[in-house]
Amino acid sequence: MDSERITLLDGKRILLGVTGSIACYKAVDLASKLTQLGVQVDVIMTEAAQQFVTPLTFQAVTGRPVYTSMWTSGGGSLPTHVAHVGLAESADLLIVAPATANTLAKLAHGLADDLLAITALATTAPILISPAMDGHMYASLAVQENLAILQGRGVTLIEPETGRFASGLVGVGRFPETPKLIGAIRHRLGRSGALKGKNLVITAGGTREPLDPVRFITNRSSGKQGYALAQAAADAGAEVMLISAARGLTAPYGVQVIPVESAYQMQQTVLTHQAGADALIMAAAVADFRPRTISDQKIKKTSGNDPLTLHLEKNPDILLSVKERRRDLHRPRVVVGFAAESEDLIAHAREKLERKGLDLLVANDITAKDAGFDVDTNRVVILDARGGQEALELASKAHVAEHIIQRVAQLLGQ
Ligand code: CTP
Repeated sequence: MDSERITLLDGKRILLGVTGSIACYKAVDLASKLTQLGVQVDVIMTEAAQQFVTPLTFQAVTGRPVYTSMWTSGGGSLPTHVAHVGLAESADLLIVAPATANTLAKLAHGLADDLLAITALATTAPILISPAMDGHMYASLAVQENLAILQGRGVTLIEPETGRFASGLVGVGRFPETPKLIGAIRHRLGRSGALKGKNLVITAGGTREPLDPVRFITNRSSGKQGYALAQAAADAGAEVMLISAARGLTAPYGVQVIPVESAYQMQQTVLTHQAGADALIMAAAVADFRPRTISDQKIKKTSGNDPLTLHLEKNPDILLSVKERRRDLHRPRVVVGFAAESEDLIAHAREKLERKGLDLLVANDITAKDAGFDVDTNRVVILDARGGQEALELASKAHVAEHIIQRVAQLLGQ
């Protein structure tokens, strides 16, 4: 993850409760990354946490005082047990990471015997918990019942991972890596955004059209723009389904991914979900042609075909099939297409928007070095169905995605 500012996080105030687990050192990385992303991070450490990591470490990465006890001043003029009310009130979110079995029990039963416990009681901000403990402890009825109580009160559980513990045992209970934790924070903070309650279907990546068991035809699309759109839609509170032909990209937290290979599979998956979608964004680079036959066996160079001739046939146009069904379904309400062009950008793009019945078309000139396939930036022009045209400056794919999502939210709000 790069540390480019994320609109949803920039300027937010997050309370990070750190409790006594060997995973404390990973919470340092979380505090550091959040701070780099423009978040004001206030750390509250339990006494046990201080056995693993010193408050100075968190202070160094956050540039802020660290709160360690109810009875000492945290650097301000008020005693900490009074200051915590202010901390609790001004926070946008409280995340307890790592959360031990002991702290989960305290939170579930309303104990108020340390600074973190009283802050959790005093805050009205959303609370996230990221348990980290030995697998047998995590599976114990006591821990599971405490988690159920907390979730019943609206606390969000970040599921621990399966893996090897410091004890050498393997099981469920491992503390997740920072990107997953930040994903969970984004997901929780975005919940009340402009796309709250809306279902978005987004396609990404270049389809693969098989030729034989080992070969396929594809294109240079990386899927990065589609994944950035999925993240921006999730940040805006949407339920996102990502129909992905991309490889090697990590899906944003909370986004449902349906992996597909070919244009045909992508079409079938899009059509299956069309009726449930409020908006569809076709960011995928769909192969226009596929091999007419798929060989069951690997094509040998000694097969007698010299030179080898490939016969290609046309793939279905997914957006055209969506347009046809939309007449009866009236869904999705908003359809967005992309157009990668190497000449006459606007004229070709306008023609595509009209032919494919789109509400928005995002056009980019693939001859520009800093835009299009496989780079992290994009330079696009957004055309709309009313004849409007908006050229965006060169920006990261994340920022382009945020802008497109804002336009989708506006259209859905009309
Ligand atoms: N698209 C689609 N089905 C296809 C091909 C493309 O739904 N078989 C979608 C793409 O996801 C994109 C838009 O149509 O949102 C435009 O894609 P593009 O490849 O630029 O357009 P084509 O219709 O393939 O036109 P051409 O290749 O001739 O420029």
